[in-house]
Amino acid sequence: MPSHQSPGLAVLILTVTLAVAMLAFAADPRNPFAGKQRAAKAGEYEFRINCALCHGLGARGGGRGPDLTTARKRHANTDAEMFQIISNGIPGTAMPANGTNGQGVGMTDDEIWQIITYLRTIEVKRSAKAMGNAAHGRQLFYGDSNCSTCHMVNGKGGRIGPDLSGIAARRRRDALIESIRKPSARLAWGLTEPTKEFPQEYQTVTVVTSDGHQFKGVTLNEDSFSLQMIDTSEQIHLFEKDQLQSLKISRESLMPAYNPDILSEHDLNDILAYLENTAAP
Ligand code: HEC
Ligand code: HEC
Repeated sequence: MPSHQSPGLAVLILTVTLAVAMLAFAADPRNPFAGKQRAAKAGEYEFRINCALCHGLGARGGGRGPDLTTARKRHANTDAEMFQIISNGIPGTAMPANGTNGQGVGMTDDEIWQIITYLRTIEVKRSAKAMGNAAHGRQLFYGDSNCSTCHMVNGKGGRIGPDLSGIAARRRRDALIESIRKPSARLAWGLTEPTKEFPQEYQTVTVVTSDGHQFKGVTLNEDSFSLQMIDTSEQIHLFEKDQLQSLKISRESLMPAYNPDILSEHDLNDILAYLENTAAP
């Protein structure tokens, strides 16, 4: 903006530009690059810079953001809805608005459409419902396989592990299988609290208090001085770190690895079928 223009004029120009942009958007919220290979390539590059930090490389879900390759999304299914979300973020969550510091550099509308074009190319349609037997899966979940001692589904179960209600809509099948067979390969993120900017990883923590009591569980909150954890009997503790005899935080999951000798392929399929039939909380 040349310096001789009055601020009033600048504001006017900005207002008119905005109004025109909004009109254009309202009139045509379609993706101008839909299906275009080159735009998808550009979008992939933009994604790596601005989004992969949270959504993971290839958008397969990362520390702080969900998998974006699932065909059915929670907030945004059409291209226009995605555009809104990428522009404005999702208030109350870690999903930042375009141009705010959480999201790297600000993107132009074209760049946002390119990212959407890219996301469409890597979307995986969920293969028809799992072949498993959901009713048997439910029995295993709450019975022999013990999942419910740590996990809740629709309000029933334990709270040491993440709530698994509707998990199949948020994570891909192969990722779920990995979480069950090799839980330590990639720890789940979650523990979202409204007061916290980012969800935190489910790290395993073991503490020994000054009077020799040992507690094992997952960290809920941690800063330089204190640690809040939930132990395996679902008690929540707040410790001053300097008063502990020992404190060990580990990336070894608290969840046992369900190898095929403990959980057959068949039973695993049944549990997945059950989880796929549960709705998000
Ligand atoms: C600081 C972390 C962070 C960054 C950076 C980020 N996101 Fe997100 N995003 C999230 C979180 C967290 C959610 C889920 C919010 C919720 O539902 O709780 C989300 C949700 C979304 C959704 C909605 C998914 C659905 O199921 O409907 C889309 C689409 C999305 N992000 C795209 C992007 C794109 C594209 C970028 C880069 C331009 C990006 N995000 C950058 C954290 C982030
Ligand atoms: C002793 C407690 C415990 C038991 C038993 C247990 N889990 Fe977990 N599970 C956890 C914890 C803690 C996490 C988070 C750390 C991690 O990712 O491994 C987790 C993570 C998961 C995740 C990843 C969730 C996400 O948000 O990505 C899935 C899926 C899962 N468990 C399924 C199961 C199933 C199915 C069973 C039964 C076959 C089971 N778990 C049994 C404690 C448990």
